[in-house]
Amino acid sequence: MTTQSIGFVGGGRIARIMLEGWRRAGALPGHVVVSDPNAATLEALKAQFPSIQTCVGDNCAAAGEPVVFLGLHPAAFAETLPWLSGVLRPDAVVVSLAPKVTIDLISGLLGGFDRIARAIPNAPSIVGAGFNPIAFGPALGERARATVRALFAPLGESLVVDEPDLEAYAVTAAMGPTYLWFQLYELRQMARSFGLSDEAAAATVAQMTRGALDTMSESGLSPAEVMDLVAVHPLADAEPIFVEAYRTHLTAVMERIRPA
Ligand SMILES: NC(=O)c1ccc[n+]([C@@H]2O[C@H](COP(=O)([O-])OP(=O)(O)OC[C@H]3O[C@@H](n4cnc5c(N)ncnc54)[C@H](OP(=O)(O)O)[C@@H]3O)[C@@H](O)[C@H]2O)c1
Repeated sequence: MTTQSIGFVGGGRIARIMLEGWRRAGALPGHVVVSDPNAATLEALKAQFPSIQTCVGDNCAAAGEPVVFLGLHPAAFAETLPWLSGVLRPDAVVVSLAPKVTIDLISGLLGGFDRIARAIPNAPSIVGAGFNPIAFGPALGERARATVRALFAPLGESLVVDEPDLEAYAVTAAMGPTYLWFQLYELRQMARSFGLSDEAAAATVAQMTRGALDTMSESGLSPAEVMDLVAVHPLADAEPIFVEAYRTHLTAVMERIRPA
């Protein structure tokens, strides 16, 4: 099996994230087929990655590759997967990138095909800074597992996890950047409004964020002690609102994506 030939069924955000991560690392597989119902999505992808082959509304070529990534939302699985079962090579590896749909369910939808892995990559993979948990189905041997791990290696840190933990990683690591990015961009904007240049504002927010994380992991202080290192908390009034939003919304999304 070669890792130089892969297919993506679904050419949306996660396909673009992974392709760009590989391209930046000089690890874009030599043969990439991407299928999607949306012609405009595929045109944009092809413009960014001219070497890829695209198929509008026909998943057969992508599903015929040795490694097939499923970049589909969970709701599309039941309708889409049965069509792929006749096209998959017997020695292919199917790597689902979706939460909620278990390896057992995927296998059932693929007519018993069982060479399946699941991964929940996160968006920083686009710059090789991903945190990407992978769970392997029992039918995958060492060689197939190594193939999948080698594909994820250029995208950042990858770790093998138990399948039931994947949804927790989805809510924390995969969706996590969306909890932070709006705040960090706003902070950058505020720094600009206080007179810093674009460059200084971006560097300040980036270095502050890295330092805050290092303090959490390296200071040896408790969470309360870390948060007490700074006496002035201008957002103190809003903190309970944020905390409540985390508890309410993340619990709700976890309930939605937890396998039945
Ligand atoms: N984005 C991330 O950071 C991220 C991270 C980890 C996991 N994931 C998972 O990856 C999956 C895809 O997410 P995404 O962010 O890439 O969403 P997305 O941008 O909406 O991409 C999904 C793509 O699949 C296409 N599609 C729908 N039905 C299809 C079918 N039957 N055959 C082929 N393609 C089909 C969609 O086309 P239409 O738009 O025309 O319907 C869309 O272009 C989800 O399960 C998500 O949870 C995403």
